[in-house]
Amino acid sequence: MDMEKLVSLCKRRGFLFQSSEIYGGLNGFWDYGPLGVELKRNIKEAWWRDMVAAHDELTVAAGAPGTYEMTGLDCTIIMHPQVWKCSGHYDLFCDMMQTCRQCKKLVRSDHVREMLRESDWVQALLAEVRCGLDATAPAWEAEALLPWVKKTCRKKAPGFAAVRDPEAAVEQLRVAQLSGGSPLTLWEALARLATPEPAAGLQLPCPHCGGDLTEPREFNLMFESHAGALKSEENRVFLRPETAQGIFVNFKNVLDSTRVRIPFGIAQIGKSFRNEITPRNFTFRSREFEQMEIEFFCHPDTSRKWYEYWRDRRMKWYVDLGLAGDRLRLRDHAADELSHYSTGTADIEYAFPFLDAGEYGELEGIAHRGDFDLRSHMEGKLDPTTCPLQVEAGADGKPKYRGSGRDLAYRDEVTNERFIPHVIEPSAGADRAALAFLCEAYREDQAPDDKGDMQTRVVMRFHPRIAPVKVAVFPLVKKDGMPEVARDLYRALKAKVTAFYDEKGAVGRRYRRQDEAGTPYCITIDGQTLADRTVTLRNRDTLEQTRIRLDDAVEEIAARVQ
Ligand code: GAP
Repeated sequence: MDMEKLVSLCKRRGFLFQSSEIYGGLNGFWDYGPLGVELKRNIKEAWWRDMVAAHDELTVAAGAPGTYEMTGLDCTIIMHPQVWKCSGHYDLFCDMMQTCRQCKKLVRSDHVREMLRESDWVQALLAEVRCGLDATAPAWEAEALLPWVKKTCRKKAPGFAAVRDPEAAVEQLRVAQLSGGSPLTLWEALARLATPEPAAGLQLPCPHCGGDLTEPREFNLMFESHAGALKSEENRVFLRPETAQGIFVNFKNVLDSTRVRIPFGIAQIGKSFRNEITPRNFTFRSREFEQMEIEFFCHPDTSRKWYEYWRDRRMKWYVDLGLAGDRLRLRDHAADELSHYSTGTADIEYAFPFLDAGEYGELEGIAHRGDFDLRSHMEGKLDPTTCPLQVEAGADGKPKYRGSGRDLAYRDEVTNERFIPHVIEPSAGADRAALAFLCEAYREDQAPDDKGDMQTRVVMRFHPRIAPVKVAVFPLVKKDGMPEVARDLYRALKAKVTAFYDEKGAVGRRYRRQDEAGTPYCITIDGQTLADRTVTLRNRDTLEQTRIRLDDAVEEIAARVQ
């Protein structure tokens, strides 16, 4: 699937707009348009319904080690700064970034290669030396690069070190190639050409202008603000980078105010914010996004079984809603990828079309977090670095993160056992799910137009549960009482499902518009309706048209889109 076509459809049909577009947009921020807001709401509602509201706590769910309860929360975005100290985000939630000395732009160190590969000046290089797109192929001839450095780089990558003295740079490359034994790959060649003086050490150039990048340094991803009138260190606060911590700090409140007992899960849907250095790939890496997270609290002895249950259950959820085949996969993390407190983590990943062949992007992570989070909010942790937030000395005199001091242990009423629960965390992104469903839904196929000629149509094959509009109602013509009947049906449908009314233009064009919106059913009121009170029901995917009774239409549609 061509990503550019999807991006253009999203804008044209009102799924997604760039935030503040009339002012040139704001990088990493996206607005959901009239269709997009319905799609994302349906995804969040399906998640809440399936995970929380419709959960049956009296019956053992398929694959579960026992019964369990589910409840919800809605916490604030800004919380006490100590939450982030104890969660580890204040000190550790960092990416490595580099600044370009020429254009001053920031890039995430681990994105430089990928961004270079996508940049039009590297694409021009690849075309120039005609070696395909394999940047690791050792096929680069120094002499072949010279005209490219002179022509393309001067215009498109003016910061490129080699632009300043192309002959000297290419000579340096030629010498390196001769002395290096095996021929240089493109990345090695670029690194040579980008380094103004060989002594400065080799590094890849800025993907934007070809300029020199500074050494990588840490950059904390949390957005900062100040609570209150004074912009001082004391009232510095952070926008949450995940919804999970609100759940941990309310663990005792939920236990004390409800009758839930372990094992149980607390779910939350809400906005999170990360000051991503290089937001990219449409909404995939945004700076403001929504998460759908569950923290599931259980006994340490059964936690492994619960982890396996949640991992499989969450995977099934995506499959049931239409993400399937080899574009979706469940990947267990290798032992060396796990956090020190985790005994298991798996990612649910989707092969987004903007990624290279064989690459997958994370939709959701399911992590076994042990008792790390509750214990941190209880006791705090030893501080490995100096930290400007409130720090107090521990019993051993060393600085200590200040925990809440609250007892977050759980006492089992039956066995009287006291323990700190283990946590299984299925953490999904609503925007990444929406993007994956959009990518998966996009199809081009052949369908007859008004004259019966086959034409290419764009159709969004959303699962009916998440389709933004469930049904569209059309009068065949704007006369003979058809609009009146159609409007009455539309009003009746609207009371139950999201419906759309359209009486403008040829009926074939109206079908096409609904196909692009992903509407699974269209109902047409025609001459026969007036005679026998039947209507045409058209199926988006099969294009099949059947006649059903007008009086059954509302129930029929409601049943089909469940
Ligand atoms: N509490 C655990 C946690 O936040 P994460 O893997 O950092 O884990 C969970 O995030 C999910 O949130 C990801 O799988 C992804 O779907 C979504 N997500 C994370 N960063 C994102 C970003 N910059 N833009 C869009 N979605 C993001």
